[in-house]
Amino acid sequence: MKKKWWKESVVYQIYPLSFKDSNGDGIGDLQGIISKLDYLKDLGIDVIWICPIYQSPNHDNGYDISDYRAIMKQFGTMEDFDELLAQAHERGLKIIMDLVINHTSDEHPWFIESRSSLDNPKRDYYIWRKGKNGGPPNNWESYFSGSVWEYDETTEEYYLHLYTKNQPDLNWENENVIRDVEEMVRWWLDKGVDGFRMDAIAHIVKAENLPDAPNPNNLPYVRAYSLFSNLEKVHTLLRDLNDKVLYKYDIMTVGETSGLGPEQALNYIGNERHELNMVFQFEHMLLDSATGGTGKWELTPWNLLDLKNIMSKWQTVLHEKGWNANYLCNHDQPRSVSRFGNDGKYRKESAKMLATFLLTLEGTPYIYQGEEIGMTNPQFQSIHEYRDIETLNYYQQAVESGTPIDTIMEAIWKKSRDNSRTPMQWDDSHAAGFTTGTPWIKVNANYQEVNVQEALKDENSIYHYYRKLIDLRKKHEGLVYGEYKLLLPLDPDLYVYTRKYEEEEFLIIMNFFDRTPVFRLPEELSSLSAELLLSNYHVEKEDLHEITFRAYEARVYKLKSRE
Ligand code: NOJ
Repeated sequence: MKKKWWKESVVYQIYPLSFKDSNGDGIGDLQGIISKLDYLKDLGIDVIWICPIYQSPNHDNGYDISDYRAIMKQFGTMEDFDELLAQAHERGLKIIMDLVINHTSDEHPWFIESRSSLDNPKRDYYIWRKGKNGGPPNNWESYFSGSVWEYDETTEEYYLHLYTKNQPDLNWENENVIRDVEEMVRWWLDKGVDGFRMDAIAHIVKAENLPDAPNPNNLPYVRAYSLFSNLEKVHTLLRDLNDKVLYKYDIMTVGETSGLGPEQALNYIGNERHELNMVFQFEHMLLDSATGGTGKWELTPWNLLDLKNIMSKWQTVLHEKGWNANYLCNHDQPRSVSRFGNDGKYRKESAKMLATFLLTLEGTPYIYQGEEIGMTNPQFQSIHEYRDIETLNYYQQAVESGTPIDTIMEAIWKKSRDNSRTPMQWDDSHAAGFTTGTPWIKVNANYQEVNVQEALKDENSIYHYYRKLIDLRKKHEGLVYGEYKLLLPLDPDLYVYTRKYEEEEFLIIMNFFDRTPVFRLPEELSSLSAELLLSNYHVEKEDLHEITFRAYEARVYKLKSRE
């Protein structure tokens, strides 16, 4: 297997709005991030992925960009960014940017021109169509509710937006769009950034002629994923971007690609494809959605066997052919400890168990800010405390369709993107030390107990456990490159696998619940002796032939043959 720095790296994701505010306006900023670089360095991470910091009217928290070459005023200036990059590099940390090229803001000059007249030279930078039968050109539903089409009076046509109406989709059929995006990408790379997370990259190509999606249930709008996701031409565009721009730089790329399995993912990341290094897959994020993803708000309990199946499939299919991007949480998902662990009595144990999982899989681990201290979903009581456009649109639509408020709030508590967007909890002072002013979104009520200052002091904290795990990965190549093999596939409580690389072999055992299952060493490993490297509990006896696992207990062993 080819060794690469980005395979050996641990990535830390920063959501700049909520990370650290340096000037008291209640919004995180670049100087805030700079002030925490030492904290990140001490944690042991290698790469920082920063969510969008470009100029934006903020309808979707920066994912609506009005100038790709300017910094959002609330975040600071381009000088601040240059300082951030230099200071990160000085510490040996890399920075990857969020590259949002499926759409721009409707305030981007390209769109302002595009919408101004039918014959404007930028008209074709976006996807414009005439209406059909007095309505929108097709029946596709936007990710954030309603139609993907918005009628524009100036030219009496509709433009397409997969996300909010303030995020018109770029037309990738237009050569000038491609050229302008390439120039912009080159501009950032020449500045010295270390790569990109490519937002919504699976969607940049839409099905020819934009046909209606099948609509057997006669819905007003239909989630038409297959008509705008992972289409063949995306690959041509990504290869071109590589051939023309990316290949010249020693960078990493990770694409956001919903709606695919590992075989299809290899079309993006297969060693010989020259498209992307990794993709974020979504299959494990859909486990608690009743309809397998079309309705994220319809709750269903997730099941460990399904999680094992999905993760094992990705681990095995990609081994030696591609590379995984592993994550349990990000700015679009609920907090991992609230979702896959226990954010009450066993918050610490389960957060450490999940950390063990994240850091011992094959692939690059992505830690989301606050995950390293076990931050939880906030469960705000009123809808007025939520800020996310997706959440607010869902609330309104669900109220209008008669869903009881309790059911709606229950879904929001579990699934809202704001769950992971509350301010980073630095200490127990005003606003958790995030800002001296009023934070743009409320701080989680548990900040006096859950915060970085506490975590740094307590040598048994989740934070220190993350440090140890990261350190372990750095010390053992087998934890980076080792082949994954699932054991006890049908055990409903324990998730057990080995990682084997050359002479090194590791055994990872995790109890995913608060029950107390018994682990018996499988026959195939019985000739080996085991050295315990790390556990989230105090372990008296290292022998592992028969162990009763405690709630959310996790152990990492190094296996050796008994001579
Ligand atoms: C995915 C991003 O992660 C999400 O936050 C955003 O709303 C959409 N793409 C649109 O850019």
